[in-house]
Amino acid sequence: MKATPLLIYGAYGYTGELIVAEALRRGLRPILSGRNRRALERVAPGVGLEIRAVDLDDESGLRKALDGVTAVLHAAGPFTTTSKPMGRACLEVGVHYLDITGEIPVFEKLAALDTRARDRGVMLLPGTGFDVVPSDCLAAHLKRRLPSGTRLELAIGSDGGGLSRGTTRTMLRHLGRGGIERVAGHLVPAPVGSRRRTVDFGSGPRKAISIPWGDLSTAYHSIGASDIVVFAAYPALMREVATRVHWFGPVLGTMPVQAALHWAVGVFLPPGPSAETRATARSHVWGRLSDAEGQSVSARIAGPEGYALTAVTAVDMAIRALAGEARPGFWTPSRLLGPDYPLSLPGFDREDLS
Ligand SMILES: NC(=O)c1ccc[n+]([C@@H]2O[C@H](COP(=O)([O-])OP(=O)(O)OC[C@H]3O[C@@H](n4cnc5c(N)ncnc54)[C@H](OP(=O)(O)O)[C@@H]3O)[C@@H](O)[C@H]2O)c1
Repeated sequence: MKATPLLIYGAYGYTGELIVAEALRRGLRPILSGRNRRALERVAPGVGLEIRAVDLDDESGLRKALDGVTAVLHAAGPFTTTSKPMGRACLEVGVHYLDITGEIPVFEKLAALDTRARDRGVMLLPGTGFDVVPSDCLAAHLKRRLPSGTRLELAIGSDGGGLSRGTTRTMLRHLGRGGIERVAGHLVPAPVGSRRRTVDFGSGPRKAISIPWGDLSTAYHSIGASDIVVFAAYPALMREVATRVHWFGPVLGTMPVQAALHWAVGVFLPPGPSAETRATARSHVWGRLSDAEGQSVSARIAGPEGYALTAVTAVDMAIRALAGEARPGFWTPSRLLGPDYPLSLPGFDREDLS
């Protein structure tokens, strides 16, 4: 059977495999890619999908791997390392680029390529997973309700759930660098946890701390919010550790410490949440948008567990790109598909708050 012109890079990572399974469920026959051929051969055994093993450092090999491809769904992170070579190859060859990053520098770098992408007729659509689809669309929904709103607060949380090794490693990469806020349109350093608030996702108040989350970049591009803070509702111990970790910033960023932490992640953590957790946990986003007059609107959205959600939204967006909905340039999920996009998918509920 003919392959779908969709290449999934990082197909044998924890999230990559979920994405491949979802693509098959949606009737696609994606091309599987990544740097390790043996690992690729273990994904979807017996299904006979085409495999294109290539290292991201191999520029000509990567261009060759994109032959006949319409869109790439990039699932190999940390994207601060992996998005540049893949993005460059997509722009050179004229292939749409989608990824599941949540990393602020990646959004910013891809946004800076907007003009080039338009010239090349290529769509750059990062953040097609939990970070940032529901939060970005919630921000756009709030903006629709309060067009004068410029100050955005978002909070993320979950009931159940957990982190994959890959997400933990990506977070470790950024550990020593501290937090970020958007103030008067600019991204400025601010310690993680420098702000605290209580959030109600619908099951009572939860304590949350400020964190550097992708919406600090994307909500600026999506709704022009000039001041943005993103909070995460963590358990007490995690809140305290996250808030104090910058004390060790310079040490945490060194190669030996990073290597030791990455090793520990591989040894002590499971690859990601179990199938049962993915089926039962829920993810949450709460948001409030305010304007200079003191008016504000709030809403919250709940969806499937974060990794299950990521597979569903990323594949759905890739299908839309293949079906001709791709638009050249840099896009955020809400700008491309509108504030109500998550509600078109199973398992999402949104509620406006008074
Ligand atoms: N935004 C969101 O909501 C969201 C949701 C899920 C995941 N993510 C992100 O997606 C990434 C993957 O997560 P995961 O849970 O799937 O992690 P994982 O299980 O550790 O998988 C990581 C994958 O990336 C590949 N990879 C890493 N560095 C590479 C490089 N330099 N060149 C080529 N391949 C490379 C790995 O291949 P090797 O084994 O060969 O190293 C592996 O296939 C993480 O950055 C995570 O934060 C984001």
